[in-house]
Amino acid sequence: MPETRSTTQKRIKIGELKKDPSLIDQEVTVKGWVRTLRNQKSFAFLEVNDGSTVSNIQIILNSTLPCYEELVQTIQTGACVRITGILVASLGGKQSVEIQAKEVETLGNAPADFVLQKKRHSFEFLRTIAHLRPRTNTFGAVMRVRNSLAFATHKFFQERSFLYLNTPIITSSDCEGAGEMFAVSTLNLENPPRDDSGKIDYREDFFGKKAFLTVSGQLNGEAYALALSDVYTFGPTFRAENSNTTRHLAEFWMIEPEMAFADLRDDMDLADDYLKYLIEYVLNNNNEDLEFFNSFISNGLIEKLSHVLETPTVRVSYTEAITILENANVPFIFPVKWGIDLQSEHERFLTEVHFKGPVIVYNYPKEIKSFYMRRNSDERTVAAMDLLVPGIGELIGGSQREERLDVLEATILAQGLDIENYDWYLDLRRYGSAPHAGFGLGFERLVQYATGMENIRDVIPFPRYPQHALF
Ligand code: 4AD
Ligand code: MG
Repeated sequence: MPETRSTTQKRIKIGELKKDPSLIDQEVTVKGWVRTLRNQKSFAFLEVNDGSTVSNIQIILNSTLPCYEELVQTIQTGACVRITGILVASLGGKQSVEIQAKEVETLGNAPADFVLQKKRHSFEFLRTIAHLRPRTNTFGAVMRVRNSLAFATHKFFQERSFLYLNTPIITSSDCEGAGEMFAVSTLNLENPPRDDSGKIDYREDFFGKKAFLTVSGQLNGEAYALALSDVYTFGPTFRAENSNTTRHLAEFWMIEPEMAFADLRDDMDLADDYLKYLIEYVLNNNNEDLEFFNSFISNGLIEKLSHVLETPTVRVSYTEAITILENANVPFIFPVKWGIDLQSEHERFLTEVHFKGPVIVYNYPKEIKSFYMRRNSDERTVAAMDLLVPGIGELIGGSQREERLDVLEATILAQGLDIENYDWYLDLRRYGSAPHAGFGLGFERLVQYATGMENIRDVIPFPRYPQHALF
């Protein structure tokens, strides 16, 4: 820190201040929100938090302060304050430093009935005040971990010379071919233009054809990988699936790397390295937040994450996974047989009971996977892989892509998709096709995994799910 810097004039973030022993006995200014005020007659304690770290800074207000009586009468939990005072090593138990206030300014007070008083609120309730929940310990910690995971993502791919690519949010291609897309239109819903046969005439719509919010940037990513070698996207994706689960959102963020000259093994290696890199990054950089989750949200979280770093990720073929499930002697709700899509109960059994850690399952039956996945020589399976983790299930889904024009065309037709919409995608196979592979990681599921948060609605600032698009 430059010596000329005035710590009085310039506000210091609490996280920074707590890490800097040279500030002890200096005058400092902090700004933040009051978590509690405890009035002890001749002095009072303020607990202030500014979101830079999970712990508060304790402020001591002495009765000799100007306007002491008025201050302690008026400042409420939730108020925003500026404090200037001397940073001192604390005598009391858990605080390492505290501030002896010289000046207290209320920047914005809150009424006595402000909703976030010092008590535990349910996450369900906090979702109804999603604009205020960042003022709680849990949401502060979630957002700091989320931020670290985003930063680590860029760091990981940039260190490996992947190019960051922005793919469109509005699209006319259905990447997953599942038809779970939100329409984007400027037509008058009450009275849309119709063609001669009475159908809605999308030629008159904004884009001159049906358009949607993207479910994945993969197809566009492939175009750029087949020119620039290695790319990754990191953007919002949208799914109009009516899933009311703790793992599904209608709007979520996805990271999608795509590599030219890569096969399924390279893809699995990348997924494995990326996951471990992310975990290592948060273990090294979000210690306090992880300690918080470990104590209050998910017992054993840190040990679980550390364990992932120390053990190679298991890889089993879908066929092997089915055999394990068949021999499990567990009364699954969805009966197990070769050809089924793995349900969450099956994924949980594999990761939580059988392997007790992350598992990559590869080579799935072609019938249950998307059209773009590369057909294996057995003609029954495709070169797909899913990375499953305990507590969540599928965190990553990826595949080697079908690079053979004739095979790809046949699959698009067999799956009943409109081949005209994929003409540009087929061009990538007509002109200089190459083996390539990639995957998508659901960012919110990653945040859940790293924090132990149970519900995906609580790891994104403003969650969108069926019947909910508030704030
Ligand atoms: O498995 P998915 O559908 O794969 C794709 O979209 C491919 N195009 C990715 C690729 O190969 N480039 O989705 C990828 C991941 C899932 O593994 C899951 O983690 C997450 O996205 N995901 C969701 N996360 C939250 N809410 C939802 N509704 C999600 N659907 C998928
Ligand atoms: Mg998937």
